[in-house]
Amino acid sequence: MVDVVIGLQWGDEGKGKIIDLLAKNYDIIARFQGGPNAGHTIYYDGKKIIFHHIPSGILHPHTKCVIGNGVVVDPYTLVEEIKELEKMGIKVEGRLFISTKSHVILERHKEEDKREGERIGTTKKGVGPCYADKFKRVGIRMQDFIKEKGEINKFLKKFVIDTVDFINDELDKGKKVLAEGAQGTLLDIDHGTYPFVTSSNTIAGGVCCGLGISPHRVGEIIGVMKAYLSRVGKGPLFTQMPEDIEEYVREKGAEYGATTGRPRRIGWFDAYLARYALKINKPDKIVITKFDVLTGLRTLKICIDYNKDPMIDEDAEPRYIEVKGWSYLQQTKNFGDLPEELKNYVKKIEEEIGQKIWMISIGKERDKVIFL
Ligand code: IMP
Ligand code: MG
Repeated sequence: MVDVVIGLQWGDEGKGKIIDLLAKNYDIIARFQGGPNAGHTIYYDGKKIIFHHIPSGILHPHTKCVIGNGVVVDPYTLVEEIKELEKMGIKVEGRLFISTKSHVILERHKEEDKREGERIGTTKKGVGPCYADKFKRVGIRMQDFIKEKGEINKFLKKFVIDTVDFINDELDKGKKVLAEGAQGTLLDIDHGTYPFVTSSNTIAGGVCCGLGISPHRVGEIIGVMKAYLSRVGKGPLFTQMPEDIEEYVREKGAEYGATTGRPRRIGWFDAYLARYALKINKPDKIVITKFDVLTGLRTLKICIDYNKDPMIDEDAEPRYIEVKGWSYLQQTKNFGDLPEELKNYVKKIEEEIGQKIWMISIGKERDKVIFL
């Protein structure tokens, strides 16, 4: 089966950390959409590593990693990433497989994105223009790119295979695959806050097209959210916090774009949009991250509803409930030991989204998670 990890908000939910945590249970970790616009941050051996293309599972020696057909690849960034990992002593060759059908981001895509991406606040990595060429049917695919005579073409050739065959064959043998989503549901090209979205299907449904697997093969869906909201780039953030609180959360949560370094805007948890994301993805399990970042706030707001549909009217006004915050947070593995206010905040979120939470994260390291 292919289990899927996806973001339920505007990206940066902490998917990288969750994948890193779950990877030990899987044989293959696969990216199915997006490209170098993604930035998955992982803390490994006390070092901070940011992945743009390569699935974060590469840090587990037994896993193989796939960059699926739905991904757009910047060859130069990818080679840098490979070399960086090799420098750290991590073996990449024979473990990383790039789809023959993945599309290649060219210089002109990056130039176009730099010229025209400001309107959306893109990452300017050429992702949108590359997908546009794919749909215009004038794109360059990896299988053609590696035929060209060039050092980089030759270097990448050894990683490029038919990943559709590979994944399906491995599944036939009973191997387990984890699909690693990038960005989040509210940035989905169809279901996000269009036009302020990315250019791919970030929802769980995207995995079938992006890897070439049947919907019959999708197993568990794991949805990740943060205990609050963040957004980088343009577009509505209906529950944006007052500036002083926003700044507190941004600094404490290191809420700066992993790819661009831009400060992220911060909002209160939005149960209405969470319900929307749950409807589209139907996750079996929900993870909520970064509770530690909210420590010290006297009052927390949760948006439970709007006066009109925010996906249609940008001036829709959120309706909030308020709960008490917590002033300290000790490390524990036991939900029962957490401050009452935190437990109450979790309970309120569960009530408002209508689903139980599976796991929460209370710190950036791999082991700082609690199962509920
Ligand atoms: P693009 O994906 O570079 O075209 O950017 C489109 C929008 O998606 C912009 O608002 C970006 O900031 C946002 N975006 C793209 N990738 C990510 C991500 O990995 N995390 C958060 N936001 C992202
Ligand atoms: Mg990110």
